[in-house]
Amino acid sequence: MKDARDIFSYRSEPDIYQFQTWQPKTIVDVEKFIETRIVDEPDLPNTWFQLAICKYDPYELIGDCGLHFIEKESSQVEVGITLKREHQGLGYATEALKLVFDFLFGKLKKHRIFGSVDPNNHASIRLMERLGMRKEAHFIESLWSNDRWSDDIVYAILSHEWKIN
Ligand SMILES: CC(C)(COP(=O)(O)OP(=O)(O)OC[C@H]1O[C@@H](n2cnc3c(N)ncnc32)[C@H](O)[C@@H]1OP(=O)(O)O)[C@@H](O)C(=O)NCCC(=O)NCCS
Repeated sequence: MKDARDIFSYRSEPDIYQFQTWQPKTIVDVEKFIETRIVDEPDLPNTWFQLAICKYDPYELIGDCGLHFIEKESSQVEVGITLKREHQGLGYATEALKLVFDFLFGKLKKHRIFGSVDPNNHASIRLMERLGMRKEAHFIESLWSNDRWSDDIVYAILSHEWKIN
């Protein structure tokens, strides 16, 4: 909860949330999100587990990464990631997701990881492709977001395609 103000500072910027459905308008929205939408342990079916992405020395929260555990039987996880603008373009999202993929495939033995991306979210598409994810679908006007219908591209990778770092 002590990170709520920091999270609000970057998650409330229009150029950060433009491709995301969660758009906090006040710090109370962030506090409610932390209280009600985030679980304490990963790998619970139908939950989001939220990781903080931090730099050490000096300590700074620089972003967050959400893991959506779809259902235990199917062993599939959706990932979402957000970085503060001033920490983008430096490789931190790639570094963070490599560790997350190692954890999901290596420790939790998940079968498939996927991400859902707006076709105009070029940085996110480059990120998925840099991680070796495959474009598997392009749904046309399938998401109602920001008062308009948006296309949705799905990228995915399977456990046997991922080389543990
Ligand atoms: C999606 C998002 C996290 C990607 O961030 P990013 O900074 O582009 O990704 P990385 O941190 O991995 O940085 C990679 C970039 O840094 C460059 N880079 C510089 N130094 C690097 C290094 N040491 N290692 C790797 N890449 C490096 C890469 O060339 C790459 O640039 P490019 O994409 O122009 O080729 C970011 O755009 C974001 O937060 N967007 C808003 C939220 C959002 O829409 N999230 C996705 C939907 S959930």
